[in-house]
Amino acid sequence: MIRVRDLHYRYSDSGPILRGLDFTQAAGESVALLGANGSGKTTFALHLNGILQCQQGEIEVCGIRLQPETLEEVRRKVGFVFQSAENQLFLPTVLEDAMFGLLNQGVPAAQARSLALAILETMHLAEYADRNPFHLSAGEKRRAALAGVLLMEPELLILDEPTTFLDPHGIRELAVMLNRQPISKLIVTHDARFALQTTTRAVFFDKGRILAEGPTPEIIDRFDWL
Ligand SMILES: Nc1ncnc2c1ncn2[C@@H]1O[C@H](COP(=O)(O)OP(=O)(O)OP(=O)(O)O)[C@@H](O)[C@H]1O
Ligand SMILES: [Mg+2]
Repeated sequence: MIRVRDLHYRYSDSGPILRGLDFTQAAGESVALLGANGSGKTTFALHLNGILQCQQGEIEVCGIRLQPETLEEVRRKVGFVFQSAENQLFLPTVLEDAMFGLLNQGVPAAQARSLALAILETMHLAEYADRNPFHLSAGEKRRAALAGVLLMEPELLILDEPTTFLDPHGIRELAVMLNRQPISKLIVTHDARFALQTTTRAVFFDKGRILAEGPTPEIIDRFDWL
């Protein structure tokens, strides 16, 4: 599902941020990315749908080598919920936002509407369908962004800090919902409990390198990350 070889990256005004990353994820696998603030998790994740361009190294996602010509194809297969998920909402209502991707894919409006309403229902956002997404609470915005991404039925789901702003019940429900999706998931999180509930393998980032990887409970235990 993901194959990354010797990935290096630096921002225009930074020193080296990713320093020779190798990473593989099998189809159907759920992997947690753990590590300190600033260790490069988001920078790495943003490479996987080409938001950041590979400067050195190689990336293959869903069997496709990532390069400018394949970007669109890869993005159709990869669902991404950003660390600042509110930036993903941009239409006047929650419902329109949820429908946007489906309409873009050519799904007829009536069908897109009923699919979007159904997912808003499962995200406990049905009553907000006609509200302005900018007026939602932080946790509601995150659930709205997730709804839009899940509707696209991606082959790979990348979630950057999905539990931020969610209350304990919201976190638990998100874990249950993710576990029901039989697709590959890459979950960047500081929430070790959530990682334990949703992933089998964890990768521990340190200063732009992968310091260790293994079964999620072992990695959490080894780095005292709970
Ligand atoms: N746009 C940018 N320009 C310059 N430097 C950046 C930029 N984005 C991130 N960085 C730097 O890159 C490093 C890695 O950041 P990144 O966001 O990937 O870390 P992270 O592991 O996701 O951290 P967190 O747990 O806080 O989300 C940090 O030192 C950060 O300051
Ligand atoms: Mg981050």
